[in-house]
Amino acid sequence: MAAIEIPTVVFPNSSAQQRVPVVGMGSAPDFTCKKDTKEAIIEAVKQGYRHFDTAAAYGSEQALGEALKEAIHLGLVSRQDLFVTSKLWVTENHPHLAVSALRKSLKTLQLEYLDLYLIHWPLSSQPGKFSFPIEVEDLLPFDVKGVWEAMEECQKLGLTRAIGVSNFSVKKLQNLLSVATIRPVVNQVEMNLAWQQKKLREFCKENGIVITAFSPLRKGASRGPNEVMENDILKKIAEAHGKSIAQVCLRWLYEQGVTFVPKSYDKGRMNQNLQIFDWSLTQEDHHKIDQIYQSRLISGPTKPQLSDLWDDQI
Ligand SMILES: NC(=O)c1ccc[n+]([C@@H]2O[C@H](COP(=O)([O-])OP(=O)(O)OC[C@H]3O[C@@H](n4cnc5c(N)ncnc54)[C@H](OP(=O)(O)O)[C@@H]3O)[C@@H](O)[C@H]2O)c1
Repeated sequence: MAAIEIPTVVFPNSSAQQRVPVVGMGSAPDFTCKKDTKEAIIEAVKQGYRHFDTAAAYGSEQALGEALKEAIHLGLVSRQDLFVTSKLWVTENHPHLAVSALRKSLKTLQLEYLDLYLIHWPLSSQPGKFSFPIEVEDLLPFDVKGVWEAMEECQKLGLTRAIGVSNFSVKKLQNLLSVATIRPVVNQVEMNLAWQQKKLREFCKENGIVITAFSPLRKGASRGPNEVMENDILKKIAEAHGKSIAQVCLRWLYEQGVTFVPKSYDKGRMNQNLQIFDWSLTQEDHHKIDQIYQSRLISGPTKPQLSDLWDDQI
């Protein structure tokens, strides 16, 4: 199987004209998946994946780092062709802890620098007290200005090429932009055909922020039938194009100009998720897709859920 060349997008907010491959490989834990991360990542590199998404909280940094090291050693890829993202967890989402958290991630990944470092959630919790979901009583005020200054420091120190955020609403982005010296290049958020994020997409486009869609398949089949993988409209569109529903989901994201990080550790499905660049959806398909009922899948990482996390953004 020949490696596929994946298109890239430029970060408008990066003075270095940095580029990111539109499709990346996710690596969040999924207890229904029995496949080995290291083996899957090496296979992904062979197939053409260059963009890899991890986080301190996922527990996948070590295996991802080992896989990338081996892929480089085998001559499959060079470091400069890779795009590696990791994220600052809430326990270290404090001005005095962000730089050391990134150094720790780099050590685990066995990398000298990241391509992108993200604030994982606009939340801060008790340092050293990891829990998932996060206990609401462990939350502390989130000092966005102070943490962003530390993120900027991470970039100035050369520990990461770019910085961004994840799970930020329009209001939270506006607040961040009002204090940022270096503007965020990415906001990584849930985005899929049943949560299309129209308002957030418009705001991000106007402000040069690239969206990275997580759960682009709404978690695929790993949590049983879901609103996109079992959707009758999408089934018909997929049949008409001779594609799978997953490919229709990813092609739609590509046509919105966003980047996305589906996760599959299955050789066939990781390849299928790259076969989306040589065909397109019709205007009529887009019209039908616009009618899909919208609801958020991931309402937040806390227990109980926070009522104001998304600032009433629909
Ligand atoms: N920033 C954040 O807060 C945040 C939150 C959630 C996720 N993420 C990131 O986004 C990544 C992806 O999100 P996700 O894992 O929640 O959801 P997803 O990519 O929408 O779905 C993953 C599931 O879909 C299945 N799948 C993949 N390709 C498929 C295909 N072509 N056909 C049918 N099923 C397919 C996979 O199973 P198989 O492996 O069996 O193919 C897996 O169970 C994560 O791994 C993580 O890196 C970030």
